[in-house]
Amino acid sequence: SSTQPQAYRASLLHFHADPAFHADAHAWHEDGLLVVADGKVRAAGDYASLHVTLPPGCTVHDYSGKLIMPGFIDTHVHYPQTEMIASPAPGLLPWLETYTFPTERRFDDPAHAADVAEFFLDELLRCGTTTAMVYCSVHAASVDAFFAASEKRDLRMVAGKVLMDRNCPEFLRDTAESGVSDSEALIQRWHRRGRALYAITPRFAPTSSDAQLRLAGELARAYPDTFVQTHVSENRDECAWVQRLFPQARSYLDVYDQVGLLRPRAMYGHCIWLDDGDRARMADSGAAAAVCPTSNLFLGSGLFDFDRADRAGMLLSLATDVGGGTSFSMLQTMNEAYKVARLSGSYLPALRMFYLATLGAARSMQLEGTIGNFAAGAEADFIVLDAQATPLLQRRSAHCDSLEELLFALALLGDDRAVAATYAAGRRVHAREAA
Ligand code: GUN
Ligand code: ZN
Repeated sequence: SSTQPQAYRASLLHFHADPAFHADAHAWHEDGLLVVADGKVRAAGDYASLHVTLPPGCTVHDYSGKLIMPGFIDTHVHYPQTEMIASPAPGLLPWLETYTFPTERRFDDPAHAADVAEFFLDELLRCGTTTAMVYCSVHAASVDAFFAASEKRDLRMVAGKVLMDRNCPEFLRDTAESGVSDSEALIQRWHRRGRALYAITPRFAPTSSDAQLRLAGELARAYPDTFVQTHVSENRDECAWVQRLFPQARSYLDVYDQVGLLRPRAMYGHCIWLDDGDRARMADSGAAAAVCPTSNLFLGSGLFDFDRADRAGMLLSLATDVGGGTSFSMLQTMNEAYKVARLSGSYLPALRMFYLATLGAARSMQLEGTIGNFAAGAEADFIVLDAQATPLLQRRSAHCDSLEELLFALALLGDDRAVAATYAAGRRVHAREAA
């Protein structure tokens, strides 16, 4: 039996194509209505035409003056690094040694893992992020803690146990065999339970032996509908290290390719120092890039090349990479992505950035139709944005002459304060306190 629909009145924005390659890629209803029933989208369109179709007595929640869009999707983030965000270090490798590994060590304690998982998910929801691809720690129990917290909120989350069996402190090592058998047990426990999805998660090539990478590739073949996530070509010192560790590989990306880890539903963090051969392999294999601008600027890793990625036809998405990233907000992530694009000679319109943070990410994860837009039957994960959230946003938005200008102001000036409410599976999971 189906429950009474709920309707939400506001301006509506969502995408059905990539605005970089298609005209009319977005749907915009200035006075719109989103109709939700049983946690799914039933309809999205103009208020005038849709409200007459509602059953008598159906509640219309009035968010007039605000903007409803699909929840943001953050395709690369480390929940165990929540408490070490904004830890300074001269580059990736010293940052990992000094802060990351000691911080992740504490996730051997399930109570600590549960505490951080709860805070982390509340912080995502405050920022309007309803789906994320999440790295847990090397400890299998850190995955249980994460998915338990996610299940309580009924969130569409992808996560996995980090695999690392060398070149890291003894206290964080699994083995090639235990890493893969723990991952398989976690797949059986969590993958497709409720809204949970599992990602096979080798940390990055330097911390996995050849044997571990090979076994991870076999697991990815045995469970083709699971996800894969790792880091690639983030930092120049890291790239040089991979070249020394894997002298037979054509490139850093090729290390993963040779063991079968390039495939649809594989999410590669950073992708800064790829060559055009790598970009072509990314596109052909159906793997996707998670572009992490706040992290790349913070750690001095480099500038993602949007034009070359687009010319190769790569699947793209945006991600925070917290704790390397400096904000949980996908709006702040767009702000930095825009500047990174400018510095590498590209241009990212605001519409493209909002596409990348919603439908673009869903496509990168092969989840179009499930999340990322308001197609009928999609899961009702959505956010209410407030372009009047701060005195400055209020001033600026009063002078916006187009949707593009309004979205641009929200991306450049907005953060968690601009998120008035967040809904997951049709339930409100965050409401901003009145100012
Ligand atoms: N490369 C390997 N591990 C990590 C990590 O935790 N964060 C980032 N940004 N890069 C990595
Ligand atoms: Zn990362």
